Amino acid sequence: MTHPGPDPLVVRLRAAGCVFADEEAAVLREAAAGDAARLERLAARRLAGQPLETVVGWAEFRGLRVAVEPGVFVPRRRTGLLVDLALRHAAPGAVAVELCAGAAAAAAALAAEAPELEVHAAELDPAAVRVARRNLDPARVHEGDLYDALPADLRWRVRILVANAPYVPTREVPLMPPEARQHEPRLALDGGADGLDVQRRVIAGAPEWLAPGGVLLVETSERQAPTTVALMREAGLVAGSVHDEGIAATAAAGVRPESGGRAGSGG
Ligand SMILES: C[S@@+](CC[C@H](N)C(=O)[O-])C[C@H]1O[C@@H](n2cnc3c(N)ncnc32)[C@H](O)[C@@H]1O
Repeated sequence: MTHPGPDPLVVRLRAAGCVFADEEAAVLREAAAGDAARLERLAARRLAGQPLETVVGWAEFRGLRVAVEPGVFVPRRRTGLLVDLALRHAAPGAVAVELCAGAAAAAAALAAEAPELEVHAAELDPAAVRVARRNLDPARVHEGDLYDALPADLRWRVRILVANAPYVPTREVPLMPPEARQHEPRLALDGGADGLDVQRRVIAGAPEWLAPGGVLLVETSERQAPTTVALMREAGLVAGSVHDEGIAATAAAGVRPESGGRAGSGG
């Protein structure tokens, strides 16, 4: 009995450093749908170092196939922690917003897993906005700088506010894996000197948008979590952090008190 030789595509992917070469070969073949020339074009892009997700046009996120395109941040599995935490606050008709949404994977997962929510997403980069509009009701994807993008009638009505803002310190961006630093936009990665420039603005603005009892959930790193939590407390939120070892994820959560605090006091 003869054995088939090794799959040449798997061999090439492995030689290029792809750890999950068998799985990647299967995904590429599915995307090529039996067209050998197309498979070769897709494989060439992957072998040149482009992320598998942007090569095939989708990323798996909490069981969804989320549309992604070259030049847009690829959703990471760890961001599922924001969704897990957000689901605890879901209620019929409640407003949920994903800021710095990228492809809006977290927003899409929330809409799928808690259809009773009114889910919005906002993002600055027009390329990401275009992709987000493929993943979420396009009328609920807003373009602009942080809160400036949001419809005014959401002010003080947001029950769940999630943000995976860029949080890599500038000096650490060159240390990121090539798939990130060469293929994802700087705007999606670089969080400034201490990594927290955008987070600071997200947190400072949250009390003006959260409903009483509403929650702000921000992805962060274990190292940065104490600062993220402190920023939330400075903003008048009741805050703490959560770590999920299984998906190497850390998030800070801050709740706007039902009464008191600074929120709404400025009119
Ligand atoms: C780390 S990526 C996360 C994307 C998405 N939330 C996810 O988890 O897949 C950060 C995103 O924030 C966006 N961004 C950066 N600065 C922003 C700003 N001032 N206003 C809105 N979005 C911003 C970037 O374009 C990028 O899409």
